[in-house]
Amino acid sequence: PITGFGVGKVVDSSHPDFKIGDYVWGSTGWEEYSLITDPKQLFKIHHTEVPLSYYTGILGMPGLTAYAGFYDICSPKKGERVFISAASGAVGQIVGQFAKQLGCYVVGSAGSDEKVNLLKTKFGFDEAFNYKKEPDLTKTLK
Ligand SMILES: NC(=O)c1ccc[n+]([C@@H]2O[C@H](COP(=O)([O-])OP(=O)(O)OC[C@H]3O[C@@H](n4cnc5c(N)ncnc54)[C@H](OP(=O)(O)O)[C@@H]3O)[C@@H](O)[C@H]2O)c1
Repeated sequence: PITGFGVGKVVDSSHPDFKIGDYVWGSTGWEEYSLITDPKQLFKIHHTEVPLSYYTGILGMPGLTAYAGFYDICSPKKGERVFISAASGAVGQIVGQFAKQLGCYVVGSAGSDEKVNLLKTKFGFDEAFNYKKEPDLTKTLK
């Protein structure tokens, strides 16, 4: 089976940190039942009052990547201009929303008009453009 990030419920376990009935997220197979032998691949879910699918997005690896990349590496400040490429992707759409929350002016680029529309109407970006339709990216960004 293909592996990827998923959410699961423990149905059997001999590991003291994971009990039957616990919810977990981490590296799983795209299959109904996965046998996971490396507990470092799994994180226990402590908050089940949100949709469990969030643990493959905002509360999972894409959210962690967006959070660490934006806040720790970019050290953004309120009022700054933020540009995000692949902006409608799993990480980009979250970075854009963090940046808006902080009070930045947020511009995103994506590879189709449909994605650009999503950025402007659903994810709250201030501006967005389809880079495949822009011959001069420097000019477009200005
Ligand atoms: N998701 C994670 O948990 C995670 C963790 C660590 C690192 N990362 C890294 O963060 C970046 C974004 O990840 P993501 O999960 O947000 O990606 P994603 O949702 O899969 O989006 C990828 C987007 O990149 C754009 N793209 C541009 N050139 C491409 C090409 N040659 N082939 C394929 N896609 C291309 C496409 O959007 P357009 O049509 O808009 O160009 C594509 O939809 C990647 O470099 C990834 O390796 C992600």
